[in-house]
Amino acid sequence: GWKMEDIMEEEIKVIRDTVGSDEHVICALSGGVDSTVAATLVHKAIGDRLHCVFVDNGLLRYKERERVMETFEKDLHLPVVCVDASNQFLTKLKGVTDPEMKRKIIGKEFICIFDDFALALEKKIGKKPSYLVQGTLYPDVIESCPPPGSGRTHSHTIKSHHNVGGLPKDMKLKLIEPLKLLFKDEVRELGKILHVPEAFLKRHPFPGPGLAVRVLGDVTEGNALEILRQVDEIFIQSIKDAGLYDSIWQAFAVFLPVRSVGVQGDQRTHSHVVALRAVTSQDGMTADWYYFEHKFLDDVARKICNGVRGVNRVVQDITSKPPSTIEWE
Ligand code: XMP
Repeated sequence: GWKMEDIMEEEIKVIRDTVGSDEHVICALSGGVDSTVAATLVHKAIGDRLHCVFVDNGLLRYKERERVMETFEKDLHLPVVCVDASNQFLTKLKGVTDPEMKRKIIGKEFICIFDDFALALEKKIGKKPSYLVQGTLYPDVIESCPPPGSGRTHSHTIKSHHNVGGLPKDMKLKLIEPLKLLFKDEVRELGKILHVPEAFLKRHPFPGPGLAVRVLGDVTEGNALEILRQVDEIFIQSIKDAGLYDSIWQAFAVFLPVRSVGVQGDQRTHSHVVALRAVTSQDGMTADWYYFEHKFLDDVARKICNGVRGVNRVVQDITSKPPSTIEWE
């Protein structure tokens, strides 16, 4: 609508005024809607003085890196460097089982890589970048630092989300947060005007620590990550095929660090259990578990056990938030 176009023009003007005519700006793309729309907006405002980085931390979903890089390059023409840091992250995560510790390690590692990116860029362009783009939304602002008397709980004391305030303090970068007054649906509307592909804008949110909080326990154990990727892909593809993707806020699989006994072929097996989680929500603060038809669940469970080696049992999470959180860790 005209209103979002006005907001876009206004934001572009603010970004240009803020950055001036020869400063450079950096941005970490996560592959999510928010950072993508924020970067696209800044790119429209200042062109190739924006420099983006996408980090493969080894905790991404099936073919995620290829999929998002294609969107960045082919559809959005964003100047983006892809850094493969999988080994670096997974080495640091070896033996770590505490969810908050995982988040801290991932956040810290990410900052190191981002620092390196900024340094390499400085060498290349001959000056320090001065600004950092973040895709912070209005709910991120209130969830991380609730206005006094708002009655909201400080959820960052429950889980340390690294979207807000988690970047290097000694980097001396000033922040550009062009989405900080918008809600998710408004960001999607803005993205549409900026020609971000519709399918991309409708993607479910994905946590910064990625599959690390969906493999319970040590993420480097066995081939947990690979199993989870395959299971998750079958689940998501089935949801898309059934036309349900847009009615769901988030859907994903969780790898459980337990084995159960099964019988596959003529063999008794002692293999992994995976859980399926799908929820509806307005903003992620509360959520209801999503009701699938039995036939759908039956098909998905069969596809998973037949198609993914090492899995012999599929369970579904039927708790809402509260009392559960959306993620399992
Ligand atoms: P929970 O699990 O707290 O999740 O109900 C609420 C929303 O936040 C996402 N989430 C995260 N996002 N870093 C993120 O960037 C995190 O550490 C993190 N933990 C949870 C979750 O996927 C859901 O959308």
